[in-house]
Amino acid sequence: MQTAFSRSYPTYAATRALDDRRASDFPLLDALGHVYLDYTAGNLVPHPLVDRHMALLRDHLLGNPHSTNPASALATTYVEQTRLSVLDFFNADPDEYLVIFTANATQALKLVGEAYPFDASGEYLLTFDNHNSVNGIREFARAKGCLTTYVPIVLPDMRVNDAELLSHLERGARGGYRLFAYPAQSNFSGVQHPLDWITLAQERGWDVLLDAAAFTPTNRLDLARWRPDFVSQSFYKMFGYPTGVGCLVARRSALAKLHRPWFAGGTITVASVQGDRFYLAEGASGFEDGTPNYLALPAVEFGLQYLSEIGIDTIHARVRCLTGWLIERLGALRHTGGAPVARIYGPRTDSRRGGTVTFNFYDAEGRAIDHRDVEERANAANISLRTGCFCNPGGGEIALGITGTELSSCFHQPEHETHLTIEDFRLCIDGKSTGAVRVSLGLVSNVADVDAFIAFAATFQR
Ligand SMILES: Cc1ncc(COP(=O)(O)O)c(C=O)c1O
Repeated sequence: MQTAFSRSYPTYAATRALDDRRASDFPLLDALGHVYLDYTAGNLVPHPLVDRHMALLRDHLLGNPHSTNPASALATTYVEQTRLSVLDFFNADPDEYLVIFTANATQALKLVGEAYPFDASGEYLLTFDNHNSVNGIREFARAKGCLTTYVPIVLPDMRVNDAELLSHLERGARGGYRLFAYPAQSNFSGVQHPLDWITLAQERGWDVLLDAAAFTPTNRLDLARWRPDFVSQSFYKMFGYPTGVGCLVARRSALAKLHRPWFAGGTITVASVQGDRFYLAEGASGFEDGTPNYLALPAVEFGLQYLSEIGIDTIHARVRCLTGWLIERLGALRHTGGAPVARIYGPRTDSRRGGTVTFNFYDAEGRAIDHRDVEERANAANISLRTGCFCNPGGGEIALGITGTELSSCFHQPEHETHLTIEDFRLCIDGKSTGAVRVSLGLVSNVADVDAFIAFAATFQR
């Protein structure tokens, strides 16, 4: 039977294999009637990945890598094989790129931030729309006297004005090292910022740090086509299991510019106490502090294979259809007087955006409904969504209309010199929302999830 959805989104039919995956690999979702809408925070665990990983751990003796003993050598083989599988998944040339395993995307970003040669003649340029783990790099830049510049995003779509970005990129006569960081997909609004910016920036002398954490779970990142200098990501966001493993994919030439601020076990060829010297290991090892998560790493290869078997393009197509449908229906909800039930922050079509949709509910008189109340009601309805600012303060400030002046007057009150709780902050910007509601679609989302969410949203209608 043709439904309004299937008429509007005919390409969804080609993604039916994901319904079978949902039934076989995520049986709890439907058994528990759980509406999971928090994929941007993390994917759910596919059962076959756990089974395959447990079988590997049961059937092999794996020891701490970096030795020639058989248990160690086998673990090393798996770690190196996983490294190659990551390069292969992203179509990255091993002569050009290497993979550094980290605990998560944040650690990958920190590796760049703490080692990038920022100085007084350089610049750190970043978009308002960034996760705090990218924002935090500004503190490394500032500590070295380096200029930090933010490029704003503009309502209603929360995209960057291309001409403005270009003028920042072209103002490049300063001479020092210059790093430009942005998310391939916003974890706040779902906006996909153009990957064309990578070449645009590199041609003007910038190194580019692409935060791909929210992008790679549902989009193809082809590193033969787009060649950022650094890419950060967390694997649990892509395929749910294992947690505790991410990576920095780095161009070898860019990595050579970094200066690690210390050395640690695993990162050196030689370190001496009496000689007071250390020699950093070449390549990825020089950046992997201590023992890698060698028992979890083989599961990353299984996860990548899992996504490849399904097809990242199939996942992308499904999420795109569902996102379009969700935005259309949420945007159409009206109170009886005609006022909108929800105000969506970000693009109102499925084009150049991912499956993350952020908004606030409003009552019939146009007053925002506190996002904490929305989360409570969603919890009671067995819907997992997320509220707050999602560690993306720039996105939140623009969406919610919180100005720099308001923030500065709040932060400069004497009692807020060193300490500010979220409650203090709420009082400070009295009358405005300090957060929003985010629903995000992913790997095995389906039409029923969207329908359940829209039914929930309709309970706010008056
Ligand atoms: C765009 C983006 N960047 C970075 C991160 C940080 O990821 P992690 O907490 O796994 O380090 C997140 C997590 O939500 C994210 O969405």
